[in-house]
Amino acid sequence: MKLKYLSHSAFQITTEGGKVILIDPFLDENPNSPVKSADVRPDYIILSHAHGDHLGDAFKIAKRTDPLFICVNELANYVISKGFRAHNMHIGGGFNFDFGRLKFTIAHHGSSTPDNQYCGEPAGILLFIEGKTIYHTGDTGLFYDMKLIGEMNKIDYMLLPIGDNYTMGITDAVKAVELANPRIAIPIHYNTFPVIETDPKEFKRQMAEKHKECIIMEFGQELDI
Ligand code: NI
Ligand code: MN
Repeated sequence: MKLKYLSHSAFQITTEGGKVILIDPFLDENPNSPVKSADVRPDYIILSHAHGDHLGDAFKIAKRTDPLFICVNELANYVISKGFRAHNMHIGGGFNFDFGRLKFTIAHHGSSTPDNQYCGEPAGILLFIEGKTIYHTGDTGLFYDMKLIGEMNKIDYMLLPIGDNYTMGITDAVKAVELANPRIAIPIHYNTFPVIETDPKEFKRQMAEKHKECIIMEFGQELDI
């Protein structure tokens, strides 16, 4: 499968089976995204929470391509209220989709829409696709249950924020990787706005000190995983 980083928290996964999955598609107003909403054609849109830098262009894309949204119940109901299709789930629950399995985890953050409606709890996303396990933490502060998530799931790729201010900064993100113990950590949610400017190379340096592998993905880079 292919894992493409669209910058900020946005990823596009293309499975061997040909399914296209977008996560948190904040593209058109995102100064770092090399891909715009008109360029994508997802079968699924997964949202970690409702904040504008995650909901992003989801509705604009959905008007054109009619994907199935996957989100926690309150956010899914908001999506449905706007006229789109959604699969309602909640934290701790998993479901087998045609691309693989998805399970939502806790995340410590908020989840209001840009028009200030509250959409339940924010979430992290565990994906089990074609033999690989990807943990997109969503926006979150550090929490000790990451250790439990790592104990119960052999995580291949952990996608986690390092930008500070709204989420974990580098020091807490290093600890998060120690707790969840993924094979490879990929830093996200940095350098999009002035308040979350940070140096991913410093994260990578601290990861190396802990003998942890880190890949800094370029904005727009696609990995074969
Ligand atoms: Ni957020
Ligand atoms: Mn965010």
